[in-house]
Amino acid sequence: MVKVAVLGAAGGIGQPLSLLLKSHPQVTELNLYDIVNSPGVAADLSHICTKAKVTGYKGQENLDAALAGCDIVVIPAGIPRKPGMTRDDLFNINAGIVKGLAEGIAKNCPKAFTCIISNPVNSTVPICAEVFKKAGTYDPKRLFGVTLLDIVRSSTFVSEAKGMNPAEAKVTVIGGHSGVTIVPLLSQLKGVTFSQEEVEALTHRIQFGGDEVVKAKDGAGSATLSMAYAAARFVDSLIEGAFMKKPVVECAYVESPLAADDGCAYFASAVELGPAGAEKILPIGPLSDYEQGLYKACVEQLKANIAKGVNFVNQA
Ligand code: NAI
Repeated sequence: MVKVAVLGAAGGIGQPLSLLLKSHPQVTELNLYDIVNSPGVAADLSHICTKAKVTGYKGQENLDAALAGCDIVVIPAGIPRKPGMTRDDLFNINAGIVKGLAEGIAKNCPKAFTCIISNPVNSTVPICAEVFKKAGTYDPKRLFGVTLLDIVRSSTFVSEAKGMNPAEAKVTVIGGHSGVTIVPLLSQLKGVTFSQEEVEALTHRIQFGGDEVVKAKDGAGSATLSMAYAAARFVDSLIEGAFMKKPVVECAYVESPLAADDGCAYFASAVELGPAGAEKILPIGPLSDYEQGLYKACVEQLKANIAKGVNFVNQA
């Protein structure tokens, strides 16, 4: 019995994500919000014979109604990358979009679990946290940056390279969600060994896998279908941990002590999801020398991305 809102539901990620959530057995209400086309997407999905009741909400004036009473809010609203752009190039537009939506959540469903997909995730999660802090509703256990696509890509690329079953290629990815802030811990994967050359090639592909899709789509956006799969899996794990009380471990970008000494108040790592949300942040574990180098490069960039998000809200 879970009520979910998707904000940005008419977009490239929003539509397939809403389709997957409409098929989820525990989702009983699905509110689809966007500034365009959401009533059409909702009407289409509402004909699918699963129990979730789908309602479309269009335009800022309907945001409050879209969010009222929601248990989980997923945010893929905002512009995606075009070839040659980094995720940070999206900041100027997406920061304002996420801030406005976070204000709506604080007002209408302050206890909801909020899952942010909109890039740059490294900065949009701190933006959302600062808005919640100002509203007095912030609970760090309930706010997540969705980095699961990096884990999904890691499983795919590693299993292809090593002839494994993707389900067994479970790679932990720590840090953030852009370029060098994405740190895959291949050394921790059991039952498989890599040459240094393989480690470097796979690491680069995982860090910049999103660019492959941006380039192939040639101006028509970034990853949407694989992202919808990853976000639906994250929501499924959250429902299992938080609402069905069967703790699940997934990687996510959350407020975290793991890299606090290196200036990063937010950090992606394996997290145990339970009734309160991010119940336990699991330790990073042993890093190879190469991974220690990746970690250093990650925190340098990540702390600047975090500060940019925090300053955006506090200087506005
Ligand atoms: P899109 O342009 O296809 O869809 C975005 C949707 O957001 C559009 O329907 C648009 O009308 C809507 N929107 C814009 N302003 C809004 C507002 N104020 N309120 C509600 N809706 C609003 O973009 P796409 O491909 O779906 O990507 C969305 C975001 O997800 C981008 O920022 C992209 O970079 C990010 N992304 C994140 C990934 C991750 O791993 N976390 C992976 C891939 C994309």
